[in-house]
Amino acid sequence: GIATLAGCATDGAGTGQALPSTAPVPPAFKVPLPIPQVARTVRRDDTTDYYEVVQKVARVEILPGSRTTIWGYDGTFPGPTFRARAGRKVVVTVRNELPVPTSTHLHGGVTPPDSDGFPTDLVVPAGYPVHTRHAGMAMKPSDYTIHDRTRDYVYPMTQRAATLWYHDHRMDFSAPQVWRGLAGAFLVGDNDEDRLGLPTGDKDIPLLICDRSFDAHGEFRYPELDSTLTNPGVTDDYMSGVFGDVILVNGAPWPVLDVANTRYRFRLINGSNARRYQLTGLPLTQIGSDGGLLAAPVRLDAVTLAPGERYDVVVDFSGYPVGTELTWTNALGDGRTRDVLRFRVARAERDASSPVPATLGSVPVLRREDAVATRQFDFRLQGGRWTINGQPYDPSGSLAAPKLDTVELWRFTSDFHHPVHVHLAQFQVLSRTGRKPEESDGGWKDTVDIRPYGVVEVLVRFAGYKGRYMLHCHNLEHEDMAMMANFDVV
Ligand code: C2O
Ligand code: CU
Repeated sequence: GIATLAGCATDGAGTGQALPSTAPVPPAFKVPLPIPQVARTVRRDDTTDYYEVVQKVARVEILPGSRTTIWGYDGTFPGPTFRARAGRKVVVTVRNELPVPTSTHLHGGVTPPDSDGFPTDLVVPAGYPVHTRHAGMAMKPSDYTIHDRTRDYVYPMTQRAATLWYHDHRMDFSAPQVWRGLAGAFLVGDNDEDRLGLPTGDKDIPLLICDRSFDAHGEFRYPELDSTLTNPGVTDDYMSGVFGDVILVNGAPWPVLDVANTRYRFRLINGSNARRYQLTGLPLTQIGSDGGLLAAPVRLDAVTLAPGERYDVVVDFSGYPVGTELTWTNALGDGRTRDVLRFRVARAERDASSPVPATLGSVPVLRREDAVATRQFDFRLQGGRWTINGQPYDPSGSLAAPKLDTVELWRFTSDFHHPVHVHLAQFQVLSRTGRKPEESDGGWKDTVDIRPYGVVEVLVRFAGYKGRYMLHCHNLEHEDMAMMANFDVV
């Protein structure tokens, strides 16, 4: 419990002990990288693209030669990749055929509150008794909004091009439900982005990275968390988060991708419950962050991703002769969790994309003076629970009431690695523990990794909608163990 945490807090990696797989796992870089299906509209009109997604149980091949039971959007893991356009509304009808309630959050979406995937706003399968406890506290049925089997999520898409993702957000159970497969990429495009000549088509690839463990039958392993959920104060080894020992990219273990000797655009999404990655081994150009294109590209030798974060990068394979193999290694891993993804330069091709331009998106620079209010949110283990400002999540409470169309300075402090995510609003990192932001902190973000005993100041712009939203730690076990808070945009 606590001893493990103290150890983790100082190792820089913020990784706990991985849950060991007992299934035979394949050698690295043999399984081809899967590219998730692109979601198909069922209907389109002048303003809107309509989709239908069924959440269901499926048995899929993740480890070669065996089947794993997943809970997936359309029965796939990752779920289908949405490709939306700024200015065209998206309506997704979700039908829940799983044995459990769900709530789907579009992470990074500028979404009205009733479609934001609030943890108590559930799509409940037929005949399911809704859980009445939350982190050990009694919940009343009236604390929930219940949709019977199906509902529509409405995404107005009044936002710029960006790499978003969607995943389950059910109260107390986001971690095990995402672990079972409820996550996918959601890419927004716009005209400004089209003009840049960035790699497109099969050279624009979402890479959803996550870790999992497998039992002897090839099924996902996930620890029993009920003791922590029903007895707050009981800490166990999973308080720091659940880590797997198999690294999956787009649902395949340590895959390999054959590439042409051209530029590729990769949408890196850390969809792990708790694991952070530092990808090294391949020079890259960061072109975008959580909230879309940067003002100017940034060349990086390594990129660090905390859970929930996205990095939009271009990798140029033109300097490598056909036959070259290049590997993205996780510098924060150990043993097999150091391996992530390999590229094999398999063919020569003429590059249809343009070199990355020196100017990308327009990103207004927020300044400290722009903030109309300052608030502090302290992320900390207190009384055996993960808390924000000393309080475990209260679904009916609210810690802040920022005004629509204003900027506030939010100061995040912490005792551990906490990837802090704010719904609805995008922010810019202003400082890290008194110093200027790091090279990879640039652009609009919605998730930022607070390091142990770190202080991160961000300037948050509240735009879009009034109503109740949340901020929380995106370590999904911390989130489930109540490290969330509401705020009301007024
Ligand atoms: Cu990606 Cu509230 O979460
Ligand atoms: Cu946390």
